[in-house]
Amino acid sequence: MVYDLQGKVVLITGASSGIGRATAIEFHRAGSRVVIAARSKDKLDTLADELGGDRVLPLKMDATSEADRQSVLAMTREAFGSIDVLVNNAGWASFGTVQRIPMGNVEQMIALNLVAPIALARDVIPEMLERGSGQIINISSVVGFQAIPRMTAYSATKAALNGFTTGLRMELKGSGVDVLLVAPGSTNTPFFTSAAAIDATATRVAETQYTPEKVGWAIVTSSRKRRSEVILTVEGKAITWIRRGWPRLADWIMYGVAKKGMPIS
Ligand SMILES: NC(=O)c1ccc[n+]([C@@H]2O[C@H](COP(=O)([O-])OP(=O)(O)OC[C@H]3O[C@@H](n4cnc5c(N)ncnc54)[C@H](OP(=O)(O)O)[C@@H]3O)[C@@H](O)[C@H]2O)c1
Repeated sequence: MVYDLQGKVVLITGASSGIGRATAIEFHRAGSRVVIAARSKDKLDTLADELGGDRVLPLKMDATSEADRQSVLAMTREAFGSIDVLVNNAGWASFGTVQRIPMGNVEQMIALNLVAPIALARDVIPEMLERGSGQIINISSVVGFQAIPRMTAYSATKAALNGFTTGLRMELKGSGVDVLLVAPGSTNTPFFTSAAAIDATATRVAETQYTPEKVGWAIVTSSRKRRSEVILTVEGKAITWIRRGWPRLADWIMYGVAKKGMPIS
């Protein structure tokens, strides 16, 4: 039942920072060969130097570019043969009310948080099916289960990623290919400073936070234990549980959280 990570080829998008970086370190520690991809090649090279040896391959990639995606897949296959695990982690948010957020930011979130994971999954599924094994791990968010105001469009991209993950899991049932969803709650990464704040502050909204290392460990443990859905943080587990039975109460809580944590500017 356990997925053996030793020697597996793991492609991680958004591995230059935060959760993706920590996940790469954790997979490497588990004996996997890691392909670390993002736009900041200098940061990837630093991580590759830190890890050392021949089980790491840093590759520059804008995940929203079809040409970049194809080139990363080709270079991975050339270096390591095939892709065993795809971690769709790269993500970005723009904070703001729906009427003020620029459509360009909405389109960028859809392209990165939703279209790129679907496109990469389509590209690796054939080789995984041929082998009868593999994993696609999508990094969603608690707000994909319970939206939060002023991150409405971002929440929508993560909710759509949840739908994609659930449907794909059913499509691949019995094939030997696992489809996993990991939904972090508030995590202490550069995510909030990288976000574009339009008319609401991009501040952390939870009292407690996971470190990226803790999330990376949870992702690798989910991979090894082949868990289909994992929701992180106490607040994250609580709000998704409340949402199932009392959706209006969940909305009321998130309305209060946003009012306090990311007021309109
Ligand atoms: N932090 C949280 O509280 C939190 C909570 C729930 C879910 N998440 C999700 O967790 C994932 C990781 O976020 P994080 O917290 O680790 O944020 P982060 O530190 O800002 O990392 C985001 C990563 O995505 C990469 N990226 C951004 N645009 C890209 C593009 N066009 N092409 C390729 N890579 C791109 C960035 O690298 P480059 O800039 O070098 O390209 C970076 O490596 C995201 O999907 C996020 O939505 C985060």
